[in-house]
Amino acid sequence: MTVILSDLLITALNEIKDSKTLAGLDDIRVHYLGKKGKITAQLKLLGSMDPIEKPIFGQEINTTKKRVEDELQLKKAELKKSTIAKNIETSSIDVTLPGRAYLSGSIHPITATLMEIESIFLSAGFMIKDGPEIENEYYNFSALNIPENHPARAMHDTFYVGSDLLLRTHTSPVQIRSMEKEGVPIKVIAPGKVYRRDSDLTHIPMFHQVEGLVIDQGINFSHLKGILHGFINCFFEKELELRFRPSYFPFTEPSAEVDILSEDGKWLEILGCGMVHPKVLENLDLDSEIYTGYAFGMGVERLVMLKYDIKDIRVFYENDLNFISQFN
Ligand code: DAH
Repeated sequence: MTVILSDLLITALNEIKDSKTLAGLDDIRVHYLGKKGKITAQLKLLGSMDPIEKPIFGQEINTTKKRVEDELQLKKAELKKSTIAKNIETSSIDVTLPGRAYLSGSIHPITATLMEIESIFLSAGFMIKDGPEIENEYYNFSALNIPENHPARAMHDTFYVGSDLLLRTHTSPVQIRSMEKEGVPIKVIAPGKVYRRDSDLTHIPMFHQVEGLVIDQGINFSHLKGILHGFINCFFEKELELRFRPSYFPFTEPSAEVDILSEDGKWLEILGCGMVHPKVLENLDLDSEIYTGYAFGMGVERLVMLKYDIKDIRVFYENDLNFISQFN
């Protein structure tokens, strides 16, 4: 049955006009133009029509169809636009909110301290040397007058990585390597990582030391005291009282441990030192009657802990940015 197309068109256009959502609009499209849609149904009637009426009615349906399609298209664009506008309105950006701050990196307190120590000794005329972290027994022990089976070897809990290879337990082997390479006179410090099988509140398996070595003619203990006083006052940025306490290291004679007097009146150990043992010089074919020297070794983490009153050495390696960034 044919219907009056102008009525169909008016109803369709009204529905399109009143449609509020994209889904509703699509229902209208299906209702008129879908397979079983009202306009589609009219098209299907064309086949059985009188040949005279057919072209007139055909054109009328096509025009109606085209008009509905166009209106649907326009309404769709309009609804899309207003949906976006509504979304923007409801999820609007609050431009007064503070932005996200970028965390800026900072130099690790141990690296910063190493740089500081190096600059103090550079200004006192020292050169900076380094050596391998994987050492052999000769450089780590024997050349430093720590023979095999000597109890001093047991003082260091060593990580062995082969029968004659180990992770250096101190930076003292760089003394030997530097003297071999540069000869004497020599005035060097050797900062770097060292390793020991040790782990608690004040010990970790990897930490840093700075070794110092000065060899020349006429070097004596007062030179050692002078340089250490200068360094400690510079590093702690105040005049500190020092105590040289007799001690034992196989590679120095005499040997001492140095303590600083803390504000609450306690002596705190800060480094080991001494006059280079004649045997160490003789191992290198140096005449210990002509050349004398001093050496010292200090733990870097320990120095930072004393300077900033840090109780637990492990905080340096927990990668807690709140801790690390305090030293910026
Ligand atoms: N090597 C020693 C250690 O790791 C520290 C040390 C003490 C180094 C006395 C020295 C020194 O050069 O003279 O415990």
